[in-house]
Amino acid sequence: MLLSLVLLLVLLAALGWLWMQLTVSPHHPPPLVPGFFHLIRADLPSYFLNLAQKYGPLYRLHLGILDVVVLNSKKAIEEAFVKKWMDFSGRPQTFPYQLVSKDGQDLSLGDYTPLWKAQKKLARSALLYVHNNMEPVMENMVQDLCKRLLARAGSPVDISKELFMFTCSIISFLSFGEKTESTVQEIKDCIEELILGWESWQVQILDFLPFLRFFPSPGLRKLRQSIKKRDRIMQKYLTQHKETMVEGQTRDLTDYMLQKLREQGEGPGQLSEGHVQMILVDLFIGGTETTAVTISWVVAFLLHHPEIQRRLHEELDQELGPGVSGSPPNYGDRARFPLLNATITEVLRMRPAAPLALPHCTQKSSSICGFDIPKNTVIIPNIYGAHHDDSIWAQPYDFRPDRFLEPEPSPLGIPFGCGARICLGESLARFEMFLILAHLLQAFTLLPAVEGSHTLPSLKPIFGINTRILGLQVRLLPREARVHQ
Ligand code: HEM
Ligand SMILES: *[C@@H]1O[C@H](CO)[C@@H](O)[C@H](O)[C@H]1NC(C)=O
Repeated sequence: MLLSLVLLLVLLAALGWLWMQLTVSPHHPPPLVPGFFHLIRADLPSYFLNLAQKYGPLYRLHLGILDVVVLNSKKAIEEAFVKKWMDFSGRPQTFPYQLVSKDGQDLSLGDYTPLWKAQKKLARSALLYVHNNMEPVMENMVQDLCKRLLARAGSPVDISKELFMFTCSIISFLSFGEKTESTVQEIKDCIEELILGWESWQVQILDFLPFLRFFPSPGLRKLRQSIKKRDRIMQKYLTQHKETMVEGQTRDLTDYMLQKLREQGEGPGQLSEGHVQMILVDLFIGGTETTAVTISWVVAFLLHHPEIQRRLHEELDQELGPGVSGSPPNYGDRARFPLLNATITEVLRMRPAAPLALPHCTQKSSSICGFDIPKNTVIIPNIYGAHHDDSIWAQPYDFRPDRFLEPEPSPLGIPFGCGARICLGESLARFEMFLILAHLLQAFTLLPAVEGSHTLPSLKPIFGINTRILGLQVRLLPREARVHQ
């Protein structure tokens, strides 16, 4: 009798405990990776991927005082950012973020608020407007790029640098109607400085060890100077546009956005000129190096895979006519170039330009894959890691565009992120990548800088905010010359 009473009590206690676990305080956190200094490494995306082998696709780790959750699979990232986007669309508002974002008026780093939504909507409609109106000029700009490269055919070219200048000139043209070389050079130098300053460890560490901000820091001082320069340049163009604007005429993105501001009227809770300025900054920061490095990676992989390059030449010749005498490629016809499309898709999978995207932050408590995630948790989507998941892509480290052309094609990656925070410039980036590569391959055979296989460029990704390539040199051989050889 006593025994059964004891048993009953034990049973009740166990049930009570279970009930607590299931309802009152559901606490089932993702596995914790021990340690505090995971940040101090250059190869963070592949390091995170290695941890996933041991801890599973999502886990927690401490970065100094911050508790972050890393997502390493497409499934986990989509569950958070698409299915539960209401919970996961914030951005962490840490000190360096506030520093660069001009009183929280930045688009890419701004937290998810109604005003932020209005800002993203304005940016999206402005970009769509100019893209549609300026497409012919952009096509001419690509042709000019090929002409400039033709003048340097035969000798090694640092194509990454050319491409970075080019993507800057596209954004500068869309934003300000400016494409003179000195203007573009000034802006490019400023953007490059900002990206480098922002990702320097001296600045990044302030996120994780905030007390350090009270000590003098050369890195931080430099970043502050770059931000001043950035604001001076942007201010110059904004003022110029306001002074020369003509009613009923929209020359570029700046005109478009300033006009929308006037229509909306100013006031508290409304978008201001500061928001417009930060949209422009974000287009330069987010839309130049990313697109340029992706094209550079395509070039590098083609140097390693001449058989794919040969098939791309065949595809272009077949659709447009032979070699340089063919008609110019046109973005509207991109569906006629499945191999070129698959090649770009494969490179975006293997070298996603923003390997860790941008950090997100939970705006309320939520869960992913059954693990609880509390409010205000920093979420790092490891896009590079997710794209090397061998349960989705067979031999993920092999460059094989054909995986997207087979009868049962591989699933697509998420190089532009997904959900409410998806990249603003995906269509512009796709337009530029397709058009530049189609023109480049129509005009040239891409060859290593020096003959011989031992001089191929390294394919090792250099991870920062963007996935960079080191020292890519290429020789461009005009295609008729090839025919006459
Ligand atoms: C191949 C080229 C590009 C890649 C791979 C890329 C990738 C990404 C990724 C992964 C994100 C973060 C998504 C997230 O936080 O979840 C992002 C955000 C963003 N990108 Fe891109 N991007 C590219 C080109 C561009 C271009 C051309 C522009 C502008 C013209 C641009 C503007 C932005 C902006 C403004 C954001 C912030 C969006 C937000 O916070 O809501 N990107 N991009
Ligand atoms: C490009 O390739 C991807 C992946 O195979 C496919 O989903 C997409 O529809 C293609 N786009 C075009 C324009 O052919």
